[in-house]
Amino acid sequence: MDKIVIRGGRPLQGRIRVSGSKNASLPLMAACLLADGPSCLQNVPDVRDIRTMARMLEILGVKSERTDQALTLDPSGLASRPAPYELVSTMRASIYVLAPLLSRFGKAQVALPGGCAIGLRPIDQHLKGLEALGATVDLAHGYINAKAPHGLKGDEIYLDVASVGATVTILLAAVRAQGRTVLDHAACEPEIANLAEGLNAMGASISGAGSSRIVIEGVRNLRPATLTVIPDRIEAGTLALAGAMTSGEMIIENLPLAHLKALENKLRETGVALIPEGKQAFRVQRKEKKLTPVDIVTLPYPGFPTDLQAQWMALMCLAPGRSVITEAVWENRFMHVAELNRMGADIQIEGSNALVRGGNPLSGAQVMASDLRASAALILAGLVAEGETTVSRIYHLDRGYEHLEQKLSGLGADIQRVPE
Ligand code: EPZ
Repeated sequence: MDKIVIRGGRPLQGRIRVSGSKNASLPLMAACLLADGPSCLQNVPDVRDIRTMARMLEILGVKSERTDQALTLDPSGLASRPAPYELVSTMRASIYVLAPLLSRFGKAQVALPGGCAIGLRPIDQHLKGLEALGATVDLAHGYINAKAPHGLKGDEIYLDVASVGATVTILLAAVRAQGRTVLDHAACEPEIANLAEGLNAMGASISGAGSSRIVIEGVRNLRPATLTVIPDRIEAGTLALAGAMTSGEMIIENLPLAHLKALENKLRETGVALIPEGKQAFRVQRKEKKLTPVDIVTLPYPGFPTDLQAQWMALMCLAPGRSVITEAVWENRFMHVAELNRMGADIQIEGSNALVRGGNPLSGAQVMASDLRASAALILAGLVAEGETTVSRIYHLDRGYEHLEQKLSGLGADIQRVPE
């Protein structure tokens, strides 16, 4: 197992290009199952979760081929086989295959994903959506068995929580359903708009994606297409926070700043500007030597992303004074706190709030990553800590960041991946 070794204290400087979004690629990979022939996805990052999803699709009979950043998926041999627990339990987004299988074959069997390190992660809203569209769903022996022998039928659906995953499931099910589906309180994330754009390029009729009301007019068939994945706003946000923490002068390319509004606002309050450089790039500029402590609450888009909460906490460790970080999306996403405290931070957890008393110098230590974004936060802390930081269990990092250490090293960081 590899680990990452960082010697802190170097400012990051230069230009860096953001990779394609993992969380936009995964639903688009599932969308490819809805056509008869091969579709091509452009700008897909080469990360572990994408490889896991490709493996899952292979089990279902889909051929995949990667060349550079393009991934071609050919579902000509697709069959409604069970999606096994071994894979679903390693990556919950595998549940995205449920709706396309149900739509194509009138039946689907997918292992129940269960919880994970960051929370319980129920799927009741996915299932409620499928049932509203006429499916019968039964849970037995750890599997979801969904059936719709006479096809799915459009309906009005209101989500109790604006779940990204449930919105994906309902879109994938409703595109080939009979008649109109109106989905209210839908997730508004850019990844949802990207999925709808992809499905429309395949012949679907979806309007309103990216807002909380999505209207889908069912069509009989979808055709293969070439689809482009949006850039990864969470990777861009992570890099921007690295620039802010190290007081460097960085330009982040290939991401519209509009996807990072909440972060941009909060960074401005703390004394760091994100300045647009054309439509697809921005500069990170720390205005003040001393950062101001700023509170955040994580919320669904366009609120402050939970996927940047851990990295924001690393920044707040540098701001002298008290700040409160409220995690309102996942019930157990503070596992990085104990590790940051091992590096000299002063953070206390009270329920869903973390109270950060910033300003203590961070010191390099051996720390352990507990999830994808926690690994990024520990690396950011390592970039400014005095001495050497070793982050182990970085298989979490490899799930969703493409060559992060190489990118940071290209910006001047002293960082290396070494076999453990
Ligand atoms: C997506 O997860 C992302 N994953 C997560 O990113 C991200 O943290 C999350 O959205 C929120 O932005 C992918 O896109 C693959 P949700 P998802 O359904 O879809 C509750 C990362 O680091 N809920 O929007 O699973 C749920 O418990 C990952 O890249 C229900 O109650 O998230 C949570 O509290 C981690 N019932 C909230 O909604 C349901 O049926 C948001 O979950 C579904 C969800």
